[in-house]
Amino acid sequence: MDAALPIVRTVPDLRRRLDAWRAEGQRIGLVPTMGALHEGHLSLIAQARARADRVIASLFVNPTQFAPGEDFEAYPRSEAQDAALLAGAGCDLLFAPTPDQIYPPGFSTTITVSGVSAPLEGENRPSHFSGVATVVAKLLIQARPDVAVFGEKDYQQLQVIKRLARDLDLPTRIIGAPTVRAPDGLALSSRNAYLTPPEREIAANLNRVLLNLARVLAQGEPVAAAEAEAAEALMSAGFDVLEYVQARHAEDLSRLGPGPIGAAPARVLAAVRLGKTRLIDNRAV
Ligand code: PAF
Repeated sequence: MDAALPIVRTVPDLRRRLDAWRAEGQRIGLVPTMGALHEGHLSLIAQARARADRVIASLFVNPTQFAPGEDFEAYPRSEAQDAALLAGAGCDLLFAPTPDQIYPPGFSTTITVSGVSAPLEGENRPSHFSGVATVVAKLLIQARPDVAVFGEKDYQQLQVIKRLARDLDLPTRIIGAPTVRAPDGLALSSRNAYLTPPEREIAANLNRVLLNLARVLAQGEPVAAAEAEAAEALMSAGFDVLEYVQARHAEDLSRLGPGPIGAAPARVLAAVRLGKTRLIDNRAV
């Protein structure tokens, strides 16, 4: 059995541990999470391990990235199980801050990353990325890691965080890690736990439609026509609501023209709702 994972809950305790490692010349990798961990998160730990001598995970269900009416209260919380999984994956320390360590009384600062935050998720969850940017900036300042790893599953979030780190001269290298998928292609997500068995079958079509969209775009099909076909395919697959399915420039997520994509690196991204579950996914073109 793996030894119990040390857990710290305050910034001074976190810094004491990290400063001791740094004094020995060890590089530190951070994997921020909201818990309810699965194989996808453990792959982020492996990516951090490959680039650092010590790996810490953070676990904080961040209220400011949930809008009123979203699933903040229902979000699965399983700290003991998460800590055991992290220990087994080779994580060295868990930072599970008390809420006042992130949002002290009187907290008044919000970070907004304009541009890349605005479309797609930004249109459907207007305050989401300022909540993410604020908490991630805090975690990067609190831990001052050499590298921090985020999943490509939340592709727009990854681009927002890269922009944030560049704009604020944060010295941490931001790494994107490939999405881990179930055998039928569904991207692993803590929210997949909300799906009923029939919904779980429908959900696998999200990846299939995105893969097909990426393929036809790479073959030169015009963007507008390919997006319309993908939208049709998602609705016929049984999703209840289609929020978006679009091809975008891969880095800043700006709009592509309606014609063939040409040589520009592009990404296809979608968000759908199925029963009470909201699913997002993306693929490289
Ligand atoms: O991707 C997540 O789990 C969260 O958005 C993050 C990066 C941990 C910030 O709360």
